[in-house]
Amino acid sequence: MPLVTSTEMFKKAYAGGYAVGAFNVNNMETIQGIVEAGQECRSPLILQVSAGARKYANPVYLKHLIEAAVETTDIPIVMHLDHGADFEACKSAIDDGFTSVMIDASHHAFNENIEITKKVVAYAHDRGVVVEAELGQLAGIEDAVNVKAEDACFTHPDEVFEFTQKTGCDSLAIAIGTSHGAYKFKPGQKPQLRFDILEEVGKRLPGFPIVLHGASSVPQDKVAIINQFGGKMPDAIGIPEDMLRKAATMAVCKINIDSDLRVACTAAVRKHFAEHPDHFDPRQYLGDARTAVKELVKHKIVDVLGSDNKA
Ligand code: G3H
Ligand code: 13P
Ligand code: ZN
Repeated sequence: MPLVTSTEMFKKAYAGGYAVGAFNVNNMETIQGIVEAGQECRSPLILQVSAGARKYANPVYLKHLIEAAVETTDIPIVMHLDHGADFEACKSAIDDGFTSVMIDASHHAFNENIEITKKVVAYAHDRGVVVEAELGQLAGIEDAVNVKAEDACFTHPDEVFEFTQKTGCDSLAIAIGTSHGAYKFKPGQKPQLRFDILEEVGKRLPGFPIVLHGASSVPQDKVAIINQFGGKMPDAIGIPEDMLRKAATMAVCKINIDSDLRVACTAAVRKHFAEHPDHFDPRQYLGDARTAVKELVKHKIVDVLGSDNKA
């Protein structure tokens, strides 16, 4: 099946009370692990590429790796630009064959965010590409912006109707307490999300797909393996999976996961080297990383997103 946009995917996810996983990809093994999981679970998938990923792998390699993955499967797959920093970044991805882009102008003032997003929407829609925009700011590190926790601000439900009407965006990322990276809460702090904001946004935008960034759960068994085998990830804490499950039954149709893939890969590689100090063939330890990604994504699809058997 060729690459698709997220339009139909999100319609079905909204109606079905589940979310589609948007997994960040940087290399071949990660792409393979994710797509094999999606295929086995019959789940739609979004493969998303950040500016950092494009810089690391070379945009041409990544695009062709994703296209190769699409050839191996019959599940619907979206190729999405994650956190497009400006019009040029989005235009470059659209011209390159991405079926979906995010314009992240959320750090600009409301009216400027509207103007920038509108320009991307006009260019994208003319070419059959869909656009995710963002209102409100998450804490954590993204490519273009580093938002400190004290500067992060929740989305104001009062703004979402005007924003989506004026921009024509196809989905909206909102800030309800998730954040990027593997250290989302301090030890002793009770993880909390502002479900009241999500509910209110859902009322203001009936049927409109909402996106959650910074939605990794940072599996503690994997963190323990990393720390056991020479790593140092003290106090890495993510979003409890039951909260993501609940969000998926509400207006959230896309859940972004990157840090969990990183943690799963690192745990697998550290364990591999500890158990096989004589190994030096990358296929051995990267093979373990690929299997770890596949297992993680299957778990997410079945137990968190609810997107199994929806392809
Ligand atoms: O939101 C950011 C994603 O986790 C991508 O991270 O910019 O390090 O590729 P990256
Ligand atoms: P995590 O760091 O929680 O995986 O978030 C990823 C993300 O939002 C990518 O855009
Ligand atoms: Zn993000």
